[in-house]
Amino acid sequence: MSVAVVTGANKGIGLAVVRALCQQFQGEVYLTARNEHRGNEAVETLRKEGLHANFLQLDVTNRKSIRNVRSKLSDRHGGIDLLVNNAGVSEECPELFPTPEEQMEAIMETNYFGTMAVYDTLKPIFNKGTRVVNVTSSAGLLSIVALWKTYNKEAALELKQRLGADDLGIIELNEIMWNYENTYRADNQGEYGWPVGGVSIKAPTPKAYVVSKLGVSALTRLQQKDFHVEQDIAVNHVHPGWTETDLSKKAEATNVRTLTPEEAAKTIIYASLLPPNTDVRGQLIWENGELVDWVNDTPTLPKLVMKEEYRQEYFATFNKQGTAHS
Ligand SMILES: NC(=O)c1ccc[n+]([C@@H]2O[C@H](COP(=O)([O-])OP(=O)(O)OC[C@H]3O[C@@H](n4cnc5c(N)ncnc54)[C@H](OP(=O)(O)O)[C@@H]3O)[C@@H](O)[C@H]2O)c1
Repeated sequence: MSVAVVTGANKGIGLAVVRALCQQFQGEVYLTARNEHRGNEAVETLRKEGLHANFLQLDVTNRKSIRNVRSKLSDRHGGIDLLVNNAGVSEECPELFPTPEEQMEAIMETNYFGTMAVYDTLKPIFNKGTRVVNVTSSAGLLSIVALWKTYNKEAALELKQRLGADDLGIIELNEIMWNYENTYRADNQGEYGWPVGGVSIKAPTPKAYVVSKLGVSALTRLQQKDFHVEQDIAVNHVHPGWTETDLSKKAEATNVRTLTPEEAAKTIIYASLLPPNTDVRGQLIWENGELVDWVNDTPTLPKLVMKEEYRQEYFATFNKQGTAHS
């Protein structure tokens, strides 16, 4: 019996992924959520649609909760065949600008360290042929680092070089992510090359989110190296496209057409159901299904332009807050 596990699946893209897996995955599908009530409600929604998903409580920032999921899956099935690391949070930008420290910490703990913790804890029960899909974002593209607004361009380019280096290891990657958190707390992240504002102030870009997804993408490449080709385990990262969900509510402030969660789920499903002996391993899969070289490619991103009413609101907030994090 094959087993699929999706994190952060009570709503948004995660729920759409579970819905599609219930229809296309040959085996048991586990919808997990940090909140038991919201998770059970999502399972019930699917049941009314004639679909069957199992529920397990899983908070990606809570090691005990992750270990609990591992022992339940191990007892019931012996192992798993698909892990979709989808759970994520972002800044409430531009309304909350600059991002409070606690929000930066929640973003880093959930998106980067949470993704890593779920993978590390479940890895011992991966079956041969397991597929791992880390949901990243265009915000985490390595090429964007060169466009960051920062006070130390040289340090930003050094970060870019190290994150894309073939000899990057997990200790160095974690140190880089901790450096972001620590310099953010000291309010001098810009001096270390980290972003202090959006790529373009025409449409503010969340910053901790950008760094956390950069980490997820760098991490994916390292995780793939954990396996021999014979194990046929594929760990890929997916940019699902800009999607209308609670996380991206700022989307309504711009001109860009957003996807439905069901449309966004298609690329994640593609990465989840890669055939045996696939050579798509450690790759970034773009919203259109194309493979993007995370280190060298610069895919074209939609040009975000804020609608005039939101733009005025943003600049009013920006002016009020000064330039500390802007
Ligand atoms: N929407 C986009 O435009 C877009 C674009 C690129 C990538 N993504 C990525 O797609 C993924 C899904 O986002 P979404 O847009 O579907 O957002 P969403 O609707 O806000 O869903 C996020 C999900 O993550 C869960 N979550 C948050 N913290 C968690 C934790 N500590 N443990 C377990 N679950 C947690 C949320 O649970 P609660 O309901 O309990 O908060 C929710 O189920 C994220 O990784 C996001 O970065 C989204």
